Amino acid sequence: MDILITGGRLVDPAASLDALRDLRLRAGRVAEIGEHLTPATGEAIVDARGAVVAPGFIDMHVHLRAPGFPEKETIATGTEAAVRGGFTTIACMPNTKPALDDPRVLLTLVSDAQRWARCRIVPIGAITRGRAGAQPCDYAALSAAGAVAFSDDGDTVADEGVLREAAHLAAAVSAPFIAHCEPEDAIVARDLRVASETKKAWHIAHVSTALSLDLLRAARERGTHVTCEVTPHHLTFTKALFDARGAEAKVHPPLREPADVEALRRGVRDGTVDALASDHAPHTPAEKTGDPAVAAPGFSGLEVAVGAYAAALPDLPAMRFVELLTTNPARILGLEAGSLAVGARADVTIFGDRQWTVDPAAFASKGKCTPFAGRVLPRKVLATIVGGALVYRAQDFTP
Ligand code: NCD
Repeated sequence: MDILITGGRLVDPAASLDALRDLRLRAGRVAEIGEHLTPATGEAIVDARGAVVAPGFIDMHVHLRAPGFPEKETIATGTEAAVRGGFTTIACMPNTKPALDDPRVLLTLVSDAQRWARCRIVPIGAITRGRAGAQPCDYAALSAAGAVAFSDDGDTVADEGVLREAAHLAAAVSAPFIAHCEPEDAIVARDLRVASETKKAWHIAHVSTALSLDLLRAARERGTHVTCEVTPHHLTFTKALFDARGAEAKVHPPLREPADVEALRRGVRDGTVDALASDHAPHTPAEKTGDPAVAAPGFSGLEVAVGAYAAALPDLPAMRFVELLTTNPARILGLEAGSLAVGARADVTIFGDRQWTVDPAAFASKGKCTPFAGRVLPRKVLATIVGGALVYRAQDFTP
C-alpha cells in the first residue's frame, strides 16, 4: 500500500533535515518529501501531527535466539517486539545453537526470516568457530551469506593471538568486529590495541564504565577506527538494583556505579557514543529467578528501549537521538538504511513524547524480564513502517 504521512516533524540527520514535512511512500521507497503534499488516489493517510517522523530505527545488538532457543524467543516474537519498539532492522547476535559461524546457518536464518520476520534481520557472524575462541571463521564466506559484523558476543575472545590473527584475516572484509569486553576495562584496552595494530574496524558493544569511554577517546585521538554503543539499562540503573533484586537484575556487563551511569550519559551528549543498542536478551522466567550466580544474564529490551533512552537523556536534541538510533548504526554496519532521502527504502519510525507505563505482561517478546517494569517512560513509538508496509501502529495513535 502507498502511504502519505502528513504534518509530522521530519527528522533525518542524513539530510540535516528537521522540519515539518509530508512524506510520500510508494512501492516500498520514499517517493516525495514536501510541504502540504496532495493525497493521491488509493493512498493511505497517516496523520503524524505532533509526532516525529524518522528513518526506521536500527537495533544493532539483539539476541534473537534463533536458531536454537525457541523457549526464549522466536523470529516471530522477537521481530514483533522489534516493530512495537520502533525498530525496522535488527542485527542479531551469533550466540545461538548452532552458532552463526557457518554460511549455511546464516543462509537458513535469512530464509527463515523471509518467512516469519516482521522487520529486517541482519545477522552478525561469529569471530571464532562455535564461539569457542580458538579457530577463526571464514569471514569472506560469512559476509557473502549476509553477515554485517562479526562478534563472539556473550564471550570474549580470550586469546589475544587468536584475536589478532582473526582481525588480520578479516581485514579485507568491511564488516566490523564487535567486541564483547569482559573484564571490561582490561579487554577494551586490549581490543583497542589490536584494532590499532590490525586497522580492522572495531565496535565496542554495551560500554558500561567511565574508564572504557576514556580509553576509547584516547584511542580515537591516536587514530584508531573504533565506535561504541550503550544500552538503556546501563544508562539508567546501578549496582544497587542488582544488590536489591539479584537474578532478575543480572546482566552482562553488570550494572555499575552512579559515576559510570553519569559518564555514559555524558558520553552520549558529547558525541563519544555512536549508537544506542538494547542488548535485547530474553530468557525464560525460570532462568531469571533463584540464585544470581546461576541465573541467566540479560533483559528483554526491544519494547522499552526508545522510551528508556528518552528518560535517561531528556535533554538530547531530536536530531542526535535519531542519529544514534538509525544513521550511525546504518553507517557502522554498512546498511542501506538510516535515511529518508527520495529513493531510500521506506523504513520509517514515528514516535511522540507521550508517557506510558511499562507492562512486561503485554510484551510481544517471550522475555518478560526488564528492570523498567512499572516505570513511566516519556517517549513512545506510535507507528513502524517496514519497506512501505505499516507493520505496527499504537492503539492510541489515531490516523
Ligand atoms: C547475553 C545473552 O543472554 O545472550 N546476555 C547479556 O546479559 N548481555 C549474553 C551475554 O552477554 O552474556
